[in-house]
Amino acid sequence: MSKGKKSRIALFASGSGSNFQAIAQSVQQGEIPASIAMLICDQPDAYVIKRAEQFQIPVFSFRAKDYPSKLEFEKEIVSKLREAGVDFIFLAGYMRLIGETLLNAYRGKIVNIHPSLLPAFPGKDAIGQAFNAQVKVTGVTVHFVDEGMDTGPIIDQESVKMAVDETRESLQEKIQGIEHELYPKVIKTLLTEAVMEGTKE
Ligand code: GRF
Repeated sequence: MSKGKKSRIALFASGSGSNFQAIAQSVQQGEIPASIAMLICDQPDAYVIKRAEQFQIPVFSFRAKDYPSKLEFEKEIVSKLREAGVDFIFLAGYMRLIGETLLNAYRGKIVNIHPSLLPAFPGKDAIGQAFNAQVKVTGVTVHFVDEGMDTGPIIDQESVKMAVDETRESLQEKIQGIEHELYPKVIKTLLTEAVMEGTKE
């Protein structure tokens, strides 16, 4: 893609979509030079779908159990993304491991946000894992996606100190606050500085 051209991005989410909202607002305000071509959601009842409707962003939602295999639903996702001219994918609380069909179609072009300082606390409930481990510092990581669970190359991280009287809830609030600032900022940098494969001339 030539420099200066607006990227078309897809966001993938499974839940509430507070990160989706932060990114969509940043796009709407012209801070991220992209248009959100589509939300992909594997939970047809998720609140993120309502958020997408408010922003008039097209949604493809599906249930994995309606397909014989991951290969089949990922094939359909790839064809939706191709139809919509999607260049890059940003995962924002998408609770599935990306399979080889999507990885092969969008290699080097899929990014995820994770609520811990990776490689510490990968996988589910990273905030709870860090809280229970009583670490002094945890945080947020934005990274490229590879075959593993939260294992791809790290793009950026921000740390947060665990307060003496921290609760699981207060920690979650702090982490989400950081996510909503960091993810739009990193996406903007990736798309404007030609860091991602395919944004080069
Ligand atoms: C975020 O904490 C994100 O880091 C993780 O899933 C959560 C999604 O939250 N991957 P939301 O749906 O964006 O509110």
